[in-house]
Amino acid sequence: MKKLFLIISCCFFAANSYAQTLVNETEIGDAETAISTASIAIIPVPVSLMKKAGTFTLPENISIQASKSEDLKQSVAFLSERIERATGRFVSSVTSANHPTIKLILNTQNDVLLGLEGYKLNVNPTQIVITANKPAGIFWGVQSLIQLFPVEIESKEVVANVKWKLPCVDVVDYPKLGWRGLMFDVARHFFTKDEVKQFIDNMVRYKFNLLHFHLTDDEGWRIEIKGLPKLTEVGAWSVQKTGTFGDFTPPTADEPRTYGGFYTQEDIKELVQYAQERFVNIMPEIDVPGHSLAAIASYPDLSCTPDAANYKVRSGEKIMDWSRGAPPTALVDNTLCPANEKVYVFLDSVITQVAKLFPFEYIHMGGDEAPHNFWEKNDQVKALMLREGLKTIPQVQAYFEKRLEQIVISKGKKFMGWDEILEGGVSPTASVMSWRGLKYGIEASKEKHNVVMSPTDFAYLDYMQADVITEPRVYASLRLNKTYQFNPIPAGADPKYIIGAQANLWTEQIFTFRQVQYMLWPRAFAISESIWSPIEKKNWTSFIDRTEQHFKRLDLAEVKYSPAIYDPIIAVKRSSDKQLMIELTPEIDGLDIYYSFDNSTPDRFYPKYTAALIPPKDASMLRVITYKGKQPVGRLISMPIADLQKRSK
Ligand code: ACM
Repeated sequence: MKKLFLIISCCFFAANSYAQTLVNETEIGDAETAISTASIAIIPVPVSLMKKAGTFTLPENISIQASKSEDLKQSVAFLSERIERATGRFVSSVTSANHPTIKLILNTQNDVLLGLEGYKLNVNPTQIVITANKPAGIFWGVQSLIQLFPVEIESKEVVANVKWKLPCVDVVDYPKLGWRGLMFDVARHFFTKDEVKQFIDNMVRYKFNLLHFHLTDDEGWRIEIKGLPKLTEVGAWSVQKTGTFGDFTPPTADEPRTYGGFYTQEDIKELVQYAQERFVNIMPEIDVPGHSLAAIASYPDLSCTPDAANYKVRSGEKIMDWSRGAPPTALVDNTLCPANEKVYVFLDSVITQVAKLFPFEYIHMGGDEAPHNFWEKNDQVKALMLREGLKTIPQVQAYFEKRLEQIVISKGKKFMGWDEILEGGVSPTASVMSWRGLKYGIEASKEKHNVVMSPTDFAYLDYMQADVITEPRVYASLRLNKTYQFNPIPAGADPKYIIGAQANLWTEQIFTFRQVQYMLWPRAFAISESIWSPIEKKNWTSFIDRTEQHFKRLDLAEVKYSPAIYDPIIAVKRSSDKQLMIELTPEIDGLDIYYSFDNSTPDRFYPKYTAALIPPKDASMLRVITYKGKQPVGRLISMPIADLQKRSK
C-alpha cells in the first residue's frame, strides 16, 4: 500500500514540475502574465504548486466569504487586516456576497491527504479559494496566499502605486510534522508581552505552530506563581550588564537589581489566547533540577547547599566551569535538592498552576546540564542514594525526574524533558527533546518515547551564523546552509515516534528584540521548510532565491534578519613554508569578493578574490566586501591580520 502511494506521488511530482516548465516557457514575452514562476516564493515550499496562465487582480472592493464564519473568523480577520493595512482597500466579510473575492471553505467531507493542517489554494483570474478540513489548514493557506501577493503586502502602512496582482496557481499543501516549534528563552533576558506577541506574529508567517516558552533559568524566573511571591519579587531581577554575557564581573551588593521582569498570570492568559487565535500552542518550560538559581535565590531551602542563603539571581557572571565538558562543574549550586521533600511540594504548586494556565498537553520540565559536583558531596543526597539504592548521580537525577513526571501526570499533562533524562533510567512514558545531536532522539524513538528533534548541529539559532568578527561571540557557529540540511526524521529513527521538531533560541547573548529577529531569520526559514516540506521538494538554490525575496518582505515588515549569506566564510591555513593563507568562500552562488590590505575600503574596482591570499609582509588589516554584479550586498568586514594569525594556530 505504501509502495503504491510512493509510485503515484512520484508520478504526481514529476508531472508537476513538467507542467511548471511548460508554463514558464509560455510566459516569456506575455505582458499580462508578467509574474513568472521565479517570483513565486512560498516558504516553506508547498507539497505541490502548479502555476497556471493568467493573474488575479485585487478589486477595489474586496469581500471574503467563509463557509463557517464562526470557525474561520480568525483567518478572515487576519487576512482582512493584512490586506487593508498595505493596500488601503476596504475588505468586507459579507457572507452573502454574490461573487466574493476570496472564499474560505471548510470541507464537509474529510480530505485524508490534507489531514489536520493541510489546505488547497486556488488562485484563478476572478476568484481565490482556500479549502481545508480544519480551521488551522485555512489559516496556513492564508499564509501561503499572503506570500503570493506582491512583497508590498508586508508593509506596515498603505503603499501607493502597487499593481496588486497575484499569479494564478493551484497549491496542495500539508505538513510533514505536526509539531513545528521555535523555543524562545525569555529567562536569560526578559522580553515583554508585546515582544512575545511579535515573535508569534513572525513565526506564523512560516507556519510554525508551537512556541516553546523557556520561562525559568539561573538568570530569571518569569512567571507569577500564586503563594510563592518571591519567585517574581526576587527571582525575576538581576543587575543590568552589557557586553559578553558569561564574562561579566560579579555584581556588587550595592548594584541595583532592577533588570528583568515577569509575566503575571493575566499576561500568560493573554499570550495563550493570542497564540491560540493564530493556531499556535504554547508549551511552558520550567527548567529543573539544574538551571534553577533564580528559584533558589528566591527560596534557598530548595537547595541542599547551606551557602544558598547567600545566592543571587545570576547577572551573567561565570557560575559554571565547562573546561572538562558536560556535565559542567558548578561554581555555585544551581540545582534543586532531590533529597528534600519541600522541593516536591514546591514543584507541585508550580506545576498545578502552570498546568491550569497553559492548555497545551505537554509541560517541559528541563532536565539539562544538571551539574554533579555539589550532589556528589552532599550528605542528604548520599542518604537518599542509600535509601533508594541509587548507585550513581545520573540515577539520582532519574529518581527526581520520575517523581516529577508523576506530578505532571497528576495534573493531566504529559511530561517532556531534554535528552539528559534518558540517563540513569527513564520512565517509559516520558517524552524527549533531543538537543545533543540526533542520536538521542533516534535511540529514544526506537524505545517508543515520543521525540521532538532540536539538535545543536542544525537547530540552535543562538549559535553564530556568520564570522565572529560581525557577531556577538557564542561558542559555536551554525550557517544557514547547515541549518537547511536539517532532517528531523533521520535514518535509524522510528518515524512513528518523531512527533515534531523545532529550533531553539537561547538568549544569553541576545539583549534586544531586534537581535532576536536577526538570529531567527533567515535560519528559521530553513527550519520551517525542513519540518513542513517533503524532503524531495527541498532545494538549496530555490531556497536561496526565495529567501532573498523574503528579505524584501522582512524589510517592508521592519523585521531584522541576518545578511550573513552575503558575507564570505573566512578560513585560515598555513602554506608549506608556514605562511598564513586566508581563504574566502561565498556561502551562496553569484557573489564576487573584493579585498584590500592597505586599510582602505574596497569596492568592485579593487582586486577580486580568486585564490587563497597571503597577506603582504607588513599588512595589518584585511578588508573584504561582497558584490552581486555591480551591487554591494555583503557587509564590509575588517579582519586584523594578528587575529587571523591567532586563528591559524
Ligand atoms: C540545552 O541547550 N541546554 C538544552
